[in-house]
Amino acid sequence: MAFNSTLSKKPGASVFYHQVTEATSTEQLVSEYPEEKPVTTRYKNWLPIWVTVVLLILVASFASYSLHLSIKLNHALEEQRGYSTDWELVRGTAKLVQKKYTATFRTNDTADTVYIEYGPNDPKYVGEPSPEIDEAWHNLLKGQYLIISEEEAMKLNRHDLVEGLYLAEPEVMHSLHCLNAIRKSLYYGPNYTHHNPDELPKNYHKTHIDHCIEQIRQNIQCALDLTPIPIFVAGREGHRIYVGEPQVHTCRDWDSFREWYTVRGEKFGNIGSFKGS
Ligand SMILES: *[C@@H]1O[C@H](CO)[C@@H](O)[C@H](O)[C@H]1NC(C)=O
Ligand SMILES: *[C@@H]1O[C@H](CO)[C@@H](O)[C@H](O)[C@H]1NC(C)=O
Repeated sequence: MAFNSTLSKKPGASVFYHQVTEATSTEQLVSEYPEEKPVTTRYKNWLPIWVTVVLLILVASFASYSLHLSIKLNHALEEQRGYSTDWELVRGTAKLVQKKYTATFRTNDTADTVYIEYGPNDPKYVGEPSPEIDEAWHNLLKGQYLIISEEEAMKLNRHDLVEGLYLAEPEVMHSLHCLNAIRKSLYYGPNYTHHNPDELPKNYHKTHIDHCIEQIRQNIQCALDLTPIPIFVAGREGHRIYVGEPQVHTCRDWDSFREWYTVRGEKFGNIGSFKGS
């Protein structure tokens, strides 16, 4: 009975012992431990105290685990329904889907070149300018600005009329417009010319592109996609490059959003991109 003897020798043991009893605040337990009981009798009753303590720990663990689960569930639901900063009008149009990225960067070791491996159903968004590519971008961006009612505009705290209309767009359209502007500036030439300088401020073009790079940078950092991308080495000896293998991502469903956006635009009106884009 090493434990018992240690307890009885310890000067503060009795005080400690009663504190534990009181802390349980269980009437029945307290009444079982009158002040002047000998230590041996008290020892016999350690078991129920520890049962109570264990039970309390279990209840506390269960409560904190439930709280943790409910916070997690709320976050998951917020992701499904949308964030509090989402435009209320559009929130809920894009459910979460899982999607594997395409347009993988590949090497051709025979020719010592690189190329893009597209998905079988991917529209062509990049390459030398062509009507097909312009059409693909048009399908993303058509009717970029929604015409909204005065009531909808007031909710956005915006009171400016644009040529007699209230206009707004969700940020995704702005970012896509920006990416397209960067693409066009890469292929600047007979097909994509600068706008008539008389129509726009002097330093418009370069500043617009710089703004667009910043827009997309923030968009990417904001989304903070944590999908893991395993890296492998490809290319010929002496021309080695690091390549990532495409993965399944959790995305908002672009197709269902775009469908809603088109219908909404047809119903209440929209206008295409600003002349400077
Ligand atoms: C790789 O390059 C060779 C030589 O130019 C070509 O014949 C072959 O089709 C290319 N392979 C792929 C997958 O593009
Ligand atoms: C411009 O677009 C046309 C098709 O509309 C294409 O045939 C031509 O190659 C393009 N020109 C340049 C310089 O990219």
